[in-house]
Amino acid sequence: MSVVYDVGKPNPRQLDFFRARARHIAYGGARGGGKSWAIRRKLSMLALYYPNLRLLLLRRTLPELKENHLLPLQQELHGIATYRDSDKSFTFPNGSRLKLGYCDSESDIFQYQGQEYDVIAMEEATHFTEAQQQFLTTCNRSTRKDFTPRMYYTCNPGNVGHAWVKRLFIDRDYREGEHPEDYVFIPAKVWDNTVLLEANPEYVRTLEALPPELRRAHLDGDWNVFAGQFFTSWDERKHVIDPFPIPDHWLRFRAIDYGLDRLACLWGASDEGGNIYIYNEWCISDTIISDAVKGILERSTGRELCTYGPKDLTARSRETGVPRTETFAMCGLPLTVVSNTRIAGWNNMAEWLKIRENGQPRLRIFRTCRELIHCLPLLQHDEKKPDDVAIEPHNITHAPDALRYMLDGRPLATEPLPVEPVSPFAPPTFEEQESSFFNFGT
Ligand SMILES: Nc1ncnc2c1ncn2[C@@H]1O[C@H](COP(=O)(O)OP(=O)(O)OP(=O)(O)O)[C@@H](O)[C@H]1O
Ligand SMILES: [Mg+2]
Repeated sequence: MSVVYDVGKPNPRQLDFFRARARHIAYGGARGGGKSWAIRRKLSMLALYYPNLRLLLLRRTLPELKENHLLPLQQELHGIATYRDSDKSFTFPNGSRLKLGYCDSESDIFQYQGQEYDVIAMEEATHFTEAQQQFLTTCNRSTRKDFTPRMYYTCNPGNVGHAWVKRLFIDRDYREGEHPEDYVFIPAKVWDNTVLLEANPEYVRTLEALPPELRRAHLDGDWNVFAGQFFTSWDERKHVIDPFPIPDHWLRFRAIDYGLDRLACLWGASDEGGNIYIYNEWCISDTIISDAVKGILERSTGRELCTYGPKDLTARSRETGVPRTETFAMCGLPLTVVSNTRIAGWNNMAEWLKIRENGQPRLRIFRTCRELIHCLPLLQHDEKKPDDVAIEPHNITHAPDALRYMLDGRPLATEPLPVEPVSPFAPPTFEEQESSFFNFGT
């Protein structure tokens, strides 16, 4: 008796996902659109169509893998593929093999070292770090002539991988070696999923009732805001402005965050009202102090009053025994040392970013400062210390750290206190003086 695999009836977005052929295909955005349903079917169809195909489906943790995929796949592939629990894989009659896996910790990913998969699917891709995704890409290779390797991603905004998913599929901001035509994004919305809407109409109301930021992420699939975002007041329309020439009489200053792995330097200016404008940035990896100073000075005008740097740079360097502040000074960039108390610093930054009654924040950033603009909205709350920013992913913290040091060096961005109108001076009458004298005396 032959068994027929029932794909079901995909909605139009799921069909787009099925038909996409790029090297990297992401299906994501809002909750409930039918992404998990679609990825299971896509992988099963590929396995059935191409003999001896090797497929890997990953979720970040084992319980998520079980609930979302293992149990449904066991049902959907019953009588079609054989499941073996020892290595969590389904083997199809044509020799194709779909392996299910998870990478709870950052290093779990190395269990896939040396393995080759024609297809790799990352479910809830934003739960994975960029390093994990990059490593998996190296396992996605094939010597087949009839199939070119593909990676599939399903995702909602938020979580530790928000930044890399947004960069590749939403901002489409590519680095050297990445080809824009390799990346396709298919947006998902709950409205696409008519099966769910009919069976469970109150699910939409649940999404509508979420707090505003979560609602924007989970109902609208808005990648500019997400659960866990630290600076929820961030609004690119208000905080990012077109560059303009900085008037000569404004105060200018710099701030740096320095580590051997990355230098972030920001240039800021303060207007007559004490508002700050970040007008330039320079962020570079693997730079020794002398080269960092050279690059900073080349990009400066000489009008900068000072350069703020964190207190930890005064500690003696393990390699040279010399405090890095001294090396900076010897190379021509004396630093004005500021506090690196994190929670107070982030609170201070939140004050500067707050949208005031006039509809504007006290801190604005020139559109040309791309790294800072990219990183600030991606900062997340530390799960263990919610008042602090998470230190992962590490690559997005440098420019915000430099900004934190700069703001620590500037007066607090409070509103000017309202001044009571002063009534013109009129000396008290004799009766007033007399009554206050008697009141005082009783
Ligand atoms: N084309 C379809 N036919 C039948 N049922 C479907 C279809 N698409 C999705 N569903 C069902 O709709 C529900 C939600 O789909 P699914 O879990 O795939 O959404 P999702 O986008 O992965 O959600 P989340 O963002 O919460 O992970 C599930 O019960 C799924 O089985
Ligand atoms: Mg899902």
